[in-house]
Amino acid sequence: MTKTYHIETFGCQMNDLDSEKIAGDLIRYGMQPAAAVSEADFVILNTCSVREKAVQKVYARLGEIRKQKGHRPDLVVGVVGCMAQLEGEKILKKMPFVNIVAGPQKSFGISALFERSIISQKPVIAMRADEDPVPLEDFHIARGNTWSAGVTISEGCNRQCAFCVIPLTRGKERIRESIHIVREVESLAAAGYLEIILLGQTVNSYVDRTGGLSFAGLLRRISGIPGLKRIRFISPHPSDFSDELLQVMESRPQVCNHIHLPVQSGSSRVLKAMRRGYTRERYLEIVKKIQSSARPIAISTDIIVGFPGETDADFRDTLTLLDEVQYDSVFSFKYSPRPNTAALSLTDDVSEEEKGRRLKILQDHQKHIQYRKNSSYMGRIEEVLVEDNARSRFRLTGRTGSNKIVNFDGPDGLIGKMAYVKITDYGPHSLQGILIQYPVLNSSAPE
Ligand code: 5AD
Repeated sequence: MTKTYHIETFGCQMNDLDSEKIAGDLIRYGMQPAAAVSEADFVILNTCSVREKAVQKVYARLGEIRKQKGHRPDLVVGVVGCMAQLEGEKILKKMPFVNIVAGPQKSFGISALFERSIISQKPVIAMRADEDPVPLEDFHIARGNTWSAGVTISEGCNRQCAFCVIPLTRGKERIRESIHIVREVESLAAAGYLEIILLGQTVNSYVDRTGGLSFAGLLRRISGIPGLKRIRFISPHPSDFSDELLQVMESRPQVCNHIHLPVQSGSSRVLKAMRRGYTRERYLEIVKKIQSSARPIAISTDIIVGFPGETDADFRDTLTLLDEVQYDSVFSFKYSPRPNTAALSLTDDVSEEEKGRRLKILQDHQKHIQYRKNSSYMGRIEEVLVEDNARSRFRLTGRTGSNKIVNFDGPDGLIGKMAYVKITDYGPHSLQGILIQYPVLNSSAPE
């Protein structure tokens, strides 16, 4: 009988894409997807390690899976991705029923690991070796949908932000040749994909070594591929921001008018301790440039509160930065000490309670900014890529090019299509509207 697998993905969009590569490998190997662990022969947790909480979440989930394995000893359990790379054998010590532990690079060869674990009847551990990196090409990717696709342009990270564990889990930056990237995007466009999301840890540090193409050059090249409606990219690093990138964003309507530009802190002192490579002033200069662009470009960011040594005054600098920038959205986190990072040598001197207090103040502050910003969408007609059924009183949810979530009512057949929605209401985190125009859905109707 055909064996089945079930993948649960934690963390970032890079992990979502990695899970599609893992699924692709397993399908090629002859397996089929199962909707739940209870129906699967092989369960894979594709994990995140960016904060301690992400690691705890995986252990909690493994605790639940242990119960299933109790009644089904043949269930094969794999833990892959960043947390697996970081924790390694520790996972087997805590959860001895786990069969496979594999870091992000090694997870792509999961079918071979699966086979090895069955033949040897022993746990298999596979970790990345920097001197022998896994090639970036020739993946079979089982895409999760037919309209939006992530495309890897680089893997790993050469920066050394004091708080961040990713360079340790994903390794040094490796860059895909642009010819392969362009070919992949062309075939996605030909297959009808509307949206492409270019992915890299610091996506805009991209330089194609063979052709000398910069990130902006690559974006320009991709924006010329017919059929694509939306091109996004995450996440750029402020230090690699270029005027050329802004020019491409201004002149190519397919490139979405949104940039996620993680700042982490509004205090130059903290930014230095974080080893971010820019000051508050330099960051604001970049923001000014983006905001003076002829095309309105939405800006979002990531912020860490309670980094070691962050004083009340530093935190106030972060709040005033929010006022100055007027972000469209902010992802904010309490600082979480990570193994083998530079910040570990600093005392984690902001109490958990104070971190929580700062996070709440920051989020409340930003909520007002977003509420005001979103009010400007009232009455506008927005082009929305419909993504899913809404988890609200509305039937559908989608996004504008500027990355605003729009909830509205309409037929399910619109999922994966472009629609025009008139904005009739708003909150701090989303917009609401009424459908005013959409493509013909009936397949018997003329195209
Ligand atoms: N603690 C808290 N947040 C972190 N991030 C990265 N490392 C840590 C950490 N140790 C946040 C940063 C990054 C986002 C993906 O996660 O804001 O941009």
